[in-house]
Amino acid sequence: MTEIIVSGMRPTGRLHLGHYHGVLKNWLRLQDEAECYFFVADWHALTTHYETTQGISEAVWDLLIEWLAVGVDPDKSVLFIQSHVPQHAELALLLGMLTPLSWLERVPTFKDQQEKLRERDLATFGFLGYPLLMTADILLYDAHKVPVGADQVAHLEISRELARRFNSFYGRDADAAAQVEKGMQAMGKRAAKTFTSLQRRFQQNGDGLAVTEAAAFLGQQAGLSAGMCEQLLAHLEGKGREILREPQALLTAASKMPGLDGQKMSKSYGNTISLREAPEVVQKKIRTMPTDPARVARTDPGTPEKCPVWALHQVYSGPETQAWVRSGCTTAGIGCLDCKQPVIEAVLAEQAPIRERAEYWAARPEQLQEIAHAGAQRARQRAEQTLERVRAAMGLAHEQRHL
Ligand code: TRP
Ligand code: SF4
Repeated sequence: MTEIIVSGMRPTGRLHLGHYHGVLKNWLRLQDEAECYFFVADWHALTTHYETTQGISEAVWDLLIEWLAVGVDPDKSVLFIQSHVPQHAELALLLGMLTPLSWLERVPTFKDQQEKLRERDLATFGFLGYPLLMTADILLYDAHKVPVGADQVAHLEISRELARRFNSFYGRDADAAAQVEKGMQAMGKRAAKTFTSLQRRFQQNGDGLAVTEAAAFLGQQAGLSAGMCEQLLAHLEGKGREILREPQALLTAASKMPGLDGQKMSKSYGNTISLREAPEVVQKKIRTMPTDPARVARTDPGTPEKCPVWALHQVYSGPETQAWVRSGCTTAGIGCLDCKQPVIEAVLAEQAPIRERAEYWAARPEQLQEIAHAGAQRARQRAEQTLERVRAAMGLAHEQRHL
């Protein structure tokens, strides 16, 4: 079975090489293996930038352009804009009914960001609900896995807890009870008695071992399908039937992409090379990068390990060039500008096809919109299936009931 992957990015300005080497290369791999939904989280951008929203549309299209430019492929992945799929809002609203305030208040990013972004008033309902909206984004597509950075793991934990809470409230329908009844009959009286006593051990005495024993026990019963065993076990644990899938975090390996100053490349450090940086600017940024501070004069030998340029060679150069750097640097055989040249060339070579494709898409806004609209249509169809289940589970399938 192909796995379902969901991920989003907020439209908050141009991407840089750190995004490419960290997040996007990962997406490129995933789109060949799984059913991927990648979306521009424009509503999420509003949670912090609700006062000044000009520029958001431009950022939305820019982000799509950059995804396409690096090779995210609309024939493989479903690419769309969050606000084009109102189902995200409906699910967020419905999940909000059962979301304890305390869960949202205790998310670390809630307090952190409020303190960090002091110039903005983030004591808003929308900002508090950030993880809730994100949960809707994910559960709407029955995602198995969600590629995220470490900063998003707490949000994903909320998504998992909410799915579980939803299932325990609404997954106990008459159908599930009938299934359990059928399973008990299929295993016979004696086995059913053993099963019931294991259930009591777990539910009354909190004996976790009883679950393990029950799993083994059910596995031995002839005439029980694997699905039935699973359902009986869920019943034993007091869990509801799974209506919403619990997603898993697929932690994006911490970006190894160093910035111009040797720290991790990040907008907040001001040490980035943007994905579509003009070649002259790339050249200038790398030429003026700091090097090993001990290498004051050209004749001073240096230590590559103390130099941010060396960190870039790790990403962009093969063993031969690296050996050339090491011996040249430690013997003062090469100057720092010589050393930087292969990095400049490698970055430019990496960016050339990306820049070319970005220009192609930037010149074709209608085609870009078509891609986004087709993606939204597919996303809405998929999302609607989940919502139908959710509405029915929550007692909102009024027409059906009336007929
Ligand atoms: N919160 C994510 C970020 O800032 C963006 C996002 C919104 C997201 N919804 C999502 C990521 C759903 C994964 C899945 O990076
Ligand atoms: Fe850094 Fe290269 Fe200069 Fe050595 S030669 S200090 S590695 S830039």
